[in-house]
Amino acid sequence: MTSTKLAARLVALLALGAALYVPGASGSAGTAADTAAYRDPSLPVSDRVDDLLSRMSLDEKIGQMTQAERSALDPQSDLATYRIGSVLSGGGSAPADNTAAGWADTYDSFQRTALSTPLGIPMIYGADAVHGHNNVYGATIFPHNIGLGATRDPALVNRIGEVTAEEVSGTGIDWTFGPCVCVARNDRWGRTYESFGEDPEIPSAMTSIVDGFQGATLGGPTSILATAKHYVGDGGTEGGVDQGDTRVSEAELRAIHLPPFQAAVERGVGSVMISFSSWNGEKVHGHRYLINDVLKEELGFTGFVISDWAGIDQIDGQPGFTGAEVATAINAGIDMIMVPYDYQQFISLLRAEVEAGQVPMARIDDANRRILTKKFELGLFERPFTDRSYTPSVGSQAHRDLAREAVRESQVLLKNNDDALPLSKSSDKIFVAGKNADDIGNQSGGWTISWQGSSGDITPGTTVLEGIRDTVSPGTTVTYDREGQGIDGSYESAVAVVGETPYAEGEGDRPGGLGLDAADLATLSRLEESGVPLIVVLISGRPMDIATEIDGWDALVTAWLPGTEGQGVADVLFGDHNPTGKLPMTWMREAGQQPINVGDGKPALFEYGYGLDYG
Ligand code: GLC
Repeated sequence: MTSTKLAARLVALLALGAALYVPGASGSAGTAADTAAYRDPSLPVSDRVDDLLSRMSLDEKIGQMTQAERSALDPQSDLATYRIGSVLSGGGSAPADNTAAGWADTYDSFQRTALSTPLGIPMIYGADAVHGHNNVYGATIFPHNIGLGATRDPALVNRIGEVTAEEVSGTGIDWTFGPCVCVARNDRWGRTYESFGEDPEIPSAMTSIVDGFQGATLGGPTSILATAKHYVGDGGTEGGVDQGDTRVSEAELRAIHLPPFQAAVERGVGSVMISFSSWNGEKVHGHRYLINDVLKEELGFTGFVISDWAGIDQIDGQPGFTGAEVATAINAGIDMIMVPYDYQQFISLLRAEVEAGQVPMARIDDANRRILTKKFELGLFERPFTDRSYTPSVGSQAHRDLAREAVRESQVLLKNNDDALPLSKSSDKIFVAGKNADDIGNQSGGWTISWQGSSGDITPGTTVLEGIRDTVSPGTTVTYDREGQGIDGSYESAVAVVGETPYAEGEGDRPGGLGLDAADLATLSRLEESGVPLIVVLISGRPMDIATEIDGWDALVTAWLPGTEGQGVADVLFGDHNPTGKLPMTWMREAGQQPINVGDGKPALFEYGYGLDYG
């Protein structure tokens, strides 16, 4: 090519480049955006936010306030087309390759799409890692919060947060929708097991997990954004109805349900999720006083507020969401909407509300400032992709060992007549029965692999029965029969592992009874008739109505929902760990007493804080 032609070609290319230049554009080398202030990590975050905001269109700002479910982004390019700033995996929403590497590949693919936009703002991806990274096959599954509350060990819970953050980071995910700092007041509630305790003292103390998740400061190699949820009063609804109405005075709301959020804010929690529930008939998703005035101004929360799953749809009590509901929620102080499917409709409705003057631009900018601040603090602009060095940590033995320690500390010994426990490792014959003795799914509960959880061999782990078998001496015979068939007087002891099967959220509401099911009662009856000393291990997400059965049992341990490391239960049964757990919930005499809580004067079967040891 002659020099004249080359010069002409060069001029043409420069002209084309000038035409394509978009202020703030990034991605292609040599554009001004690559040197834009918001891309300079040496600048204060506030300066970077100011610079980026100045380059953003209204649609780009609305996109940052939009969170879409992973499975809804079809085509995936919608993430870029609509400038969507956040993706979530709802409970059980896993990539086809549900392995740590499969999650990391999926995350990185979404991130590449997000970075292809002119401003190249990274997306932030959230998931419910509420007892380990529980959507991921092979991840370490820790005890649910009710069991962690029984440990009374905030340092342990902090460590669980750190380890969970490593596993979450190893899959690319930046943000967990946890901890639930709800204060469960009525055990009929299907989310009782997500509560650390019925009194705000334990949930407040267990916000130590926020430090574990986020690190000393956001931006560490395994820092993930934590979420205090569900703001506020979700555990106090009438009848323990999930998403129901919390009819209490403001004084009681502040005394019982607000303190854990104050504790989380003081720890610098990065996000807060709004509760589906209502306060005295008004949906919290539209409650400007509670969100703007109390959470943001009075408590000084500087992170961002996210709605719950399609939570704004419920504000007017009608299906779907309207522009009015969008405006109400945003003006109440919600910064990001977990739509999660109709993101195009949400974006167009919010744009219309802004253009109509129903949502001030200052509110849009405030929401973006809050969201972008966390993205910068997390280091997403500098390190947008998965750090694969942490991927092998998912389900590692070291993590499982910590989970086993948590299981040990969460066991509560409620009865031990004639020192039926600890069992001897050199027993001649031990009989094990019950539907929850050999079932990883049942011992993990809801929010495990799937949203509701499920019975069966759903993920690698150690069942209680396997733990027992691994503990006894080679000469000990351990016989297992789910219904207790075959029990006879030749056995030195019988261990019945009974209780609940998995559930989550409203599916777990029990407006009727809280007693054991017929299968468990039949198994227990069969074992009692044998006259063999009977040790009952209760695997459940809450106290159960057992007062009329317990007299026939020689010992009772409540194991809550221990997760994958059932060995921790066996460690207590055989005395390798002297039980230290204390009840985080008052144990009813009968279901009709609900709600029954510490200090209310009702006669409990076992009081809040009760727990025996081996002396
Ligand atoms: C659910 C839950 C909430 C969870 C969210 C995303 O409905 O209420 O706890 O974080 O949706 O899965």
